[in-house]
Amino acid sequence: MPTIEPHGGVLVNRLVLEGDKEHKRKEHKRNEAAALPHIQIDGRTLSDLEMIGVGAFSPLEGFMNEDDYKSVVARMRLANDIIWSLPITLAVTDEVAKELSIGETAALVGEEDGKLYGTIDIESIYQADLLHEAEQVYRTMDTAHPGVEKLLKRPSTYVGGKVSVLERKQPDQFTQYYFDPAETRRLFADKGWRTIVGFQTRNPVHRAHEYIQKSAMEIVDALFLNPLVGETKSDDVPADVRMRSYEALLANYYPENRVFLGVFPAAMRYAGPREAIFHAIVRKNYGCTHFIVGRDHAGVGDYYGTYDAQHIFSSFEPGELGIQPLFFEHSFYCRTCGGMASNKTCPHSATHHLTLSGTKVRALLREGTCPPPEFSRPEVARILIEGMAHSTTARTN
Ligand code: ADX
Repeated sequence: MPTIEPHGGVLVNRLVLEGDKEHKRKEHKRNEAAALPHIQIDGRTLSDLEMIGVGAFSPLEGFMNEDDYKSVVARMRLANDIIWSLPITLAVTDEVAKELSIGETAALVGEEDGKLYGTIDIESIYQADLLHEAEQVYRTMDTAHPGVEKLLKRPSTYVGGKVSVLERKQPDQFTQYYFDPAETRRLFADKGWRTIVGFQTRNPVHRAHEYIQKSAMEIVDALFLNPLVGETKSDDVPADVRMRSYEALLANYYPENRVFLGVFPAAMRYAGPREAIFHAIVRKNYGCTHFIVGRDHAGVGDYYGTYDAQHIFSSFEPGELGIQPLFFEHSFYCRTCGGMASNKTCPHSATHHLTLSGTKVRALLREGTCPPPEFSRPEVARILIEGMAHSTTARTN
């Protein structure tokens, strides 16, 4: 097994699985659930439920109760002092809240498909101050921030308690890249890897990403490329297109025996610094010993300073988090150096550097033009062009 312990010491498992004995338990739970009050959950909450169930959010065993929630919002720690940076909460309308009581169990039902996904043993029903949460967690109350917008649209009554997962949402594509933390831990161990660097991304992997990944790979045994494929903003590149681009990149430019591609089926919050801590903790649960934090990690617009997501790690004692963050400066291609670099390694001014804004890159791809190879590998660019053409057709049809 990897040398790293799960966060909090134990890998949580809240799945009530198929299988002889378990099957009966599941049937029993299902029958019971039919008579329980129903809580409808949206896509984000459903992915949180599953992440809790498989232990990706260890040590969380359920949605946060009031003590943990307040403690996390105020000081990035659970009530028992374990580091945790983002509230993981179950929001319900007042109408639903009226039907719920502490000490009872409620059924968690998918808002979109009406399926029973799990149950919650209710420990706490409480009012959240959403503006305060926004200010503390996102560092802004501006509703133009996609994370804040989402937060403020949800009801402010939260329900906390341990969950049981009865059903998992089945991915319709790229199923071969879905692994639970228990599986990645075992697979990393089987490969004999002792040090593994985790890489979070919600974007195609461009040359700057590749550069920081490979710089990290020089000092660890392997890379866990762990793209987030849960809910993202509508203008982010769709996950299926990205998955094809990762496959092409790995096939052409990475050593097969030192890279592992597996998806992170959670929602993006765009909470910048706090999300960087959260991303690191989750990758620790997947078995990573190191985690890459580059420029404006999990940021959006200009809500966060370029290196805020790195500075936040110094809020904790060295070693307290358990996973080693690896910080990288803003990286770029330098024409004069003739290679990828950052201000730490390149003496030339910005005029020597190739920099393309996200907007510019999207415009190039939309008109079917590959960005320069110094920015993006042609194999990747071609897939993005194809993917964007397809999604435009889909939108206009
Ligand atoms: S994120 O929201 O998932 O963080 P993105 O996929 O762009 O967005 O970034 C993935 C990781 O690469 C993050 O750690 C980010 O800080 C880092 N990163 C992205 N672009 C650069 C760059 N040009 N230089 C250095 N680090 C970068």
